[in-house]
Amino acid sequence: MKFQAMELLFGKNTPKQMIPKVTLLAIFAILVFTITPLSYPLFRYSSTMKNIKQIKQQPSSAFDDLNESSSLPSSSIKKCDIFNGEWVANPKAPYYTNETCWAIHEHQNCMKYGRPDSEFLKWKWRPFGCELPVFNPFQFLEIVRGKSMAFVGDSVGRNQMQSMICLLSRVEWPIVVSHRENDYFMVWNYPTYNFTLSSFWTPHLVRSKESDQKGPTSTGLFNLYIDEPDENWITQIEDFDYVILNGGHWFTRSMVFHENQKIVGCHYCLLENVPDLTMYHGYRRAFRTAFKAINNLKNFKGITFLRTFSPSHFENGIWNQGGDCVRRKPFRSNETELEGVGLEFYMIQLEEFKVAEKEGRRRGKKFRLYDVTQATMLRPDGHPSRFGHWPNENVTLYNDCVHWCLPGPIDTWSDFLLDMLKMEGVRSAEERRLHLKTN
Ligand SMILES: *[C@@H]1O[C@H](CO)[C@@H](O)[C@H](O)[C@H]1NC(C)=O
Ligand SMILES: *[C@@H]1O[C@H](CO)[C@@H](O)[C@H](O)[C@H]1NC(C)=O
Ligand SMILES: *[C@@H]1O[C@H](CO)[C@@H](O)[C@H](O)[C@H]1NC(C)=O
Ligand SMILES: *[C@@H]1O[C@H](CO)[C@@H](O)[C@H](O)[C@H]1NC(C)=O
Ligand SMILES: *[C@@H]1O[C@H](CO)[C@@H](O)[C@H](O)[C@H]1NC(C)=O
Repeated sequence: MKFQAMELLFGKNTPKQMIPKVTLLAIFAILVFTITPLSYPLFRYSSTMKNIKQIKQQPSSAFDDLNESSSLPSSSIKKCDIFNGEWVANPKAPYYTNETCWAIHEHQNCMKYGRPDSEFLKWKWRPFGCELPVFNPFQFLEIVRGKSMAFVGDSVGRNQMQSMICLLSRVEWPIVVSHRENDYFMVWNYPTYNFTLSSFWTPHLVRSKESDQKGPTSTGLFNLYIDEPDENWITQIEDFDYVILNGGHWFTRSMVFHENQKIVGCHYCLLENVPDLTMYHGYRRAFRTAFKAINNLKNFKGITFLRTFSPSHFENGIWNQGGDCVRRKPFRSNETELEGVGLEFYMIQLEEFKVAEKEGRRRGKKFRLYDVTQATMLRPDGHPSRFGHWPNENVTLYNDCVHWCLPGPIDTWSDFLLDMLKMEGVRSAEERRLHLKTN
């Protein structure tokens, strides 16, 4: 059996039900040549989870450094790694439906488009060694009362924000405060809690511009200014309490990298005399630039979360050659492992994060690793596949194995987030206690 992880790009589609009268502009550009489809044997009985475990050892050393600053007694922080675990049955899920939540994006409303099975809804994440409570919207809203949160990145980030709006809807619906260029830039507010939720569309995090809609692979050619953070978000986030960064699939398209106003290389641009530095160069530099820019924001007092790469799950072909995601159950953690493009992207994120976090501590900035990759990799069953549109609709990404059905597995990303926010409470209580002691 072949698992072909073709990382593709996806369009920015606007949900009709959220803002009427916007053009449904699907820019789909998918890269075909640059990535060798990664075949990977499933059910590898021997070296299970080898990669993830190896990687996990590295970032944890990033956190050992925590005692350098002696900000916290390490014993006071729960030792369980909530991001390492297993999906277990949860008959109580889901916590909303497409009938109770209007915030579901059209292309992620899988039940509407006839997805026949519902078992994929009935799981929750159980970390090895502890419990991760299911999202409690009341608790969440209490914690974020008077605060503001920004989702910065691509449409998978928006997918998550919509999931969160649905989960919170048991308590309250947000009102739209403003939107610009349809829903790529949204501001919502939860009136009772004065909680502000925003999304900033920036698929590359750095300034980018499509220079050619076709390019070598008919998927567009982008100029990436890899040393310039995208002004669309960096100029906007200074007052936010929480900033959740993400990025991934867009970096597989053809790109020309600019640095210091000069072309320094590219990713599959096929231009003469321009060295091919691969997509990984662009990916690394985008995160490095984004993190640096945050570290340089004088008045930013918030917490930056890196929401790590969300793997796609095309099998038996690439996205436009019959590849699909037809599984109906999660993988067990011993059945598969992260490899290829996903692994590379994830490693790059961890490496850049570690550097940024260290520098951040010097500057009084907080960075947190919001490490959804492992849990998400185990959910090949959670994508829309062909149930993101009517069968006769002409859409480029016919089988969507990138985004996530709502309700669906990314609801769990909110479980993680709430747990992390609670840990922030523990941390600051400890910090206050230490402060009192030393005074
Ligand atoms: C994975 O673990 C489960 C339970 O621990 C076991 O039943 C199963 O056989 C294992 N599968 C593989 C592929 O090792
Ligand atoms: C941090 O503290 C732990 C436990 O107190 C210790 O094992 C570890 O070596 C320390 N790390 C550093 C970098 O000091
Ligand atoms: C919700 O899904 C059902 C199928 O389960 C479908 O009949 C209905 O039209 C959908 N409703 C909305 C508002 O999407
Ligand atoms: C709502 O929260 C914002 C910060 O997000 C704050 O500036 C504003 O004063 C608050 N408004 C009220 C009415 O509390
Ligand atoms: C589908 O859309 C593409 C691009 O818009 C177009 O080239 C193609 O002819 C369309 N196919 C059908 C069957 O309408």
